[in-house]
Amino acid sequence: MASRLSISRPRRSVAPLFDRIARFYDADVIQRLGYKPPQDEVVLELRGAGSRRIVDVGCGTGVLASRLKEELGAEVVYGIDASEGMLGQAKARSSDVDWRRGLAEQLPLPDDSVDAVVSTTAFHFFDRPKALAEFYRVLASGGRAVVVTTLAPTRLISQLSRLGNIPQAPTRHEMRESFARAGFESVTQHRVQRPLNLPTPEVVTVGFRPA
Ligand SMILES: C[S@@+](CC[C@H](N)C(=O)[O-])C[C@H]1O[C@@H](n2cnc3c(N)ncnc32)[C@H](O)[C@@H]1O
Repeated sequence: MASRLSISRPRRSVAPLFDRIARFYDADVIQRLGYKPPQDEVVLELRGAGSRRIVDVGCGTGVLASRLKEELGAEVVYGIDASEGMLGQAKARSSDVDWRRGLAEQLPLPDDSVDAVVSTTAFHFFDRPKALAEFYRVLASGGRAVVVTTLAPTRLISQLSRLGNIPQAPTRHEMRESFARAGFESVTQHRVQRPLNLPTPEVVTVGFRPA
């Protein structure tokens, strides 16, 4: 059953969709209820970690990347996204971040060039093995990847999600396995904290490139 269902269709880019919705994306209520809690998790994870060079992959309109620069005082923060529309909003937000158009599966950064790779609410759009291989490639030894993603509750639902084009939600276990297969060590996971402790299908996965 699993092998029959695991035949996935070729991926379609979601960039045109995000180009269209970019100017509505920063509405306060959408940000506060939807996107801020996962971003808070990343800021918490990196606070005190001493990451000097950070890349936010699938940075969207740049809220998190800008916070990482301002709140953590990182030397350089890159914001990378496939959508020109989303990057347009990001560029208007801050000139302190190095915004780049690019794909998670082909990051426009050299090997060993950052101390942390982060991604919130975007990983389900990526080709998981290719993106994680890229995260590993651009990380310096000892660097960490922090990915917040929406999960599928079971393996069957995860497999079914691959029959469509996007998004493709992994299970919690698949996320951990994918990190380990890409070479990450000391992989840990925890749930995203939301107001009122609402149960959420999102998890933070953290892994380290071996030192
Ligand atoms: C739901 S938004 C999340 C944006 C931001 N991380 C946040 O927390 O608000 C998903 C973003 O992922 C980007 N994206 C989707 N697939 C991508 C890919 N393969 N490579 C780079 N960016 C991608 C989209 O263009 C979009 O801006």
